[in-house]
Amino acid sequence: MNQALETQLWSSLPVPAILMDADDLIADMNPAAEGFMNNSAKWLVGQPVWDRLAVDAPLEENLARARAQGTPLFVNDVDVGTGSRPPLVCNLQIAPLQGQPGWMIMLISPRELAGRMTQSHSVKSAAKSAIGMAEMLAHEIKNPLAGITGAAQLLSMNLSKDDLELTDLIVTESRRIVKLLEQVEQFGNLSAPERRAVNIHDVLDRARRSTQLGVGAHMKIVEDYDPSLPLAHGDPDQLLQVVLNLLRNASEVADQKAGGTIRLHTFYEHSFRMRRADGSGQSLPLQIEVIDDGPGLPPDIKGDIFDPFVSGKENGTGLGLALVSKIISDHDGWISVDSVPGRTVFRISLPLAPREEQEND
Ligand SMILES: Nc1ncnc2c1ncn2[C@@H]1O[C@H](COP(=O)(O)OP(=O)(O)OP(=O)(O)O)[C@@H](O)[C@H]1O
Ligand SMILES: [Mg+2]
Repeated sequence: MNQALETQLWSSLPVPAILMDADDLIADMNPAAEGFMNNSAKWLVGQPVWDRLAVDAPLEENLARARAQGTPLFVNDVDVGTGSRPPLVCNLQIAPLQGQPGWMIMLISPRELAGRMTQSHSVKSAAKSAIGMAEMLAHEIKNPLAGITGAAQLLSMNLSKDDLELTDLIVTESRRIVKLLEQVEQFGNLSAPERRAVNIHDVLDRARRSTQLGVGAHMKIVEDYDPSLPLAHGDPDQLLQVVLNLLRNASEVADQKAGGTIRLHTFYEHSFRMRRADGSGQSLPLQIEVIDDGPGLPPDIKGDIFDPFVSGKENGTGLGLALVSKIISDHDGWISVDSVPGRTVFRISLPLAPREEQEND
């Protein structure tokens, strides 16, 4: 490994790491350690490490042995204090530094932090298995619910006006539940996209027309297309679903009487590339923006709107954008949102259809 890489490695290590010399003086520390100690390396280098770190464990003997034998030392579940905040429970890993007799490198893993990370991870997978479970339940609940609705309708034939209100309530609420269940099912039924060359503008037109017949009847929908836009590589039905959900959201948050304006904007951005975790890159030059002039995202859920079951609406299931984000990621695309009151922009970036399919069209 070359030196630049080593330096990068040292500074990108997300775990506090401290290098100490044969006399337990701090020789170096990475930025994570600076954060942990709440002090900069400039001040701490040269100082005795155990003056700076209060470790609640009899380390001396073990450390001396590890040093003499050139073996690593692991100390779990110890309180580590830095003087600037209450001690944290940590795991310590102390290993001899190759080629520097007596020097040791110490990694400090705060247990509380680790615990928090696993937790947020398991919340995500819990959401996933919740969807599987909800899908199964949705299927099971729909049949008896149809029975209940039917029975209520039968009953209503012989009722007085006052009692009719009650059966009407049963019917409308049951319909609401069925709608919710259908959305849950739709989420579970989502199969892998069947991708081919798609004209994005056809998809947008279909979505616009169907929105204006239903949930978006009160909205003005403006087209702002780049007519030279090449074909995208996608599943037209799934992309339609995506645009429908975005249009529905924008229509639902707008003033139901005064309405609002939605702009469908397409353009080509040559330089838009995605860098993936595995290092590969993908070009996503096709841009679709759905822009509305509504109230903007509620601040309290702004960061989580793409997670399932996150909703800012009284009757929302919070599955619309989760579905959108799943479909776009299955398309190797990218979705982002930028929102302030009066202007919310959902932007989708998609890959081009392969060249031979562009020409076939
Ligand atoms: N264009 C928008 N303007 C303002 N807020 C929005 C917009 N789009 C989405 N949101 C907010 O994001 C939340 C999540 O949206 P999402 O579509 O995932 O769920 P939902 O609309 O509440 O329920 P569902 O789509 O399942 O019926 C919405 O409840 C709303 O608060
Ligand atoms: Mg929605």
